[in-house]
Amino acid sequence: MLESTAAVLHRPGERLTIETVSVASPRLGEVLVEIAATGLCHTDTTTFDGGNPSCVYPAILGHEGAGRVVEVGPEVSDVRVGDHVIPLYGPECGQCAMCRSGRTNLCWSIKKTRDRGVMPDGTPRFSLRGEPVHHFMGTSTLSRYTVVPEIALAKIRSTVPLDTVCLLGCAVTTGVGAAMRDVRAGDTTVVFGLGGIGVNVVQGARLAGAERIIGVDIAPAKQSLGNKLGMTDFVDGRGDPDAVVEAIRDLTGGGVDVAFECSGHVRVMRQAVDCCRAGWGTCVLLGAEPAGAELSFPPVLARYGRTVKGSYFGGVKGRSELNLFVDLYLDGHLEIDSLITHRLSLDEVNEGFDLMHSGNGTRSVVVFE
Ligand code: CU
Repeated sequence: MLESTAAVLHRPGERLTIETVSVASPRLGEVLVEIAATGLCHTDTTTFDGGNPSCVYPAILGHEGAGRVVEVGPEVSDVRVGDHVIPLYGPECGQCAMCRSGRTNLCWSIKKTRDRGVMPDGTPRFSLRGEPVHHFMGTSTLSRYTVVPEIALAKIRSTVPLDTVCLLGCAVTTGVGAAMRDVRAGDTTVVFGLGGIGVNVVQGARLAGAERIIGVDIAPAKQSLGNKLGMTDFVDGRGDPDAVVEAIRDLTGGGVDVAFECSGHVRVMRQAVDCCRAGWGTCVLLGAEPAGAELSFPPVLARYGRTVKGSYFGGVKGRSELNLFVDLYLDGHLEIDSLITHRLSLDEVNEGFDLMHSGNGTRSVVVFE
């Protein structure tokens, strides 16, 4: 048992409070990680109003962290004390039907307990004044110390700064991975929403060799970072929805090869579907919709060869593939540093989420050391 400062959300509608929680030792297959830094992501904020069914209160948020292994539980074989790791909200057990399929990075081996805010044995490792505090997304990286199942840890090279590569825990991998999977050299692409995910789709599309990368956002200020990462054109998303689609069709001679939706708004998803070219245009949904939302479009769009799909964590298998992204960063192909617009202490975590809501900056990172 050790003590840890952590940002706790006690109940919906409240601000996060900084508490000293107790963290129990890792059990079978579990690992105790000392978090060095964690990025603030929009998904954390879906818990603020009680709208995220997989958040059990009180909870410790955070899912975009990086740190070091400080203790391993029984039967942990792939990581050792001192290893640098990135906690994964999507595990990779390597043994379930999904892992073995070779067709998806989804692994639901521990999804049931993760979505109840507990470890695979059904209990949480966090407590506060003797009462349980829940894990969030199986990661809870807004705590100096956290416990994570070994199958939900990516071991990374120890030569990269943890307060930068923490972004590989969510935004960078989700955006870059998704783009590299579906974009071919010479393609025309459009990215709706130039936030933390969208700008990474832009750089992923550039890495995949896209010829044209059109960014769409309701905030023209997002243009400069997009341009820096490889965006070739910008369309103001505030206009009439059909006019926006028309502008993109005009820029691409009838529609894009691949459209990415990163805002999570259903009406924007429909725009993304509508700008795909007939024959093979693919719409990739990345932004999470509000609970209960439905997307509709005329069946003829699909009958004429368009595809609507999506991906989780960029389709990347965390444990076996994350180091490919670390290498891209080390080799100077992947930009991460300039995505981090604010560095904060844990005490400033609420201000960090306020910055996100006001659209100020790209990514805020809470640094523990
Ligand atoms: Cu995230």
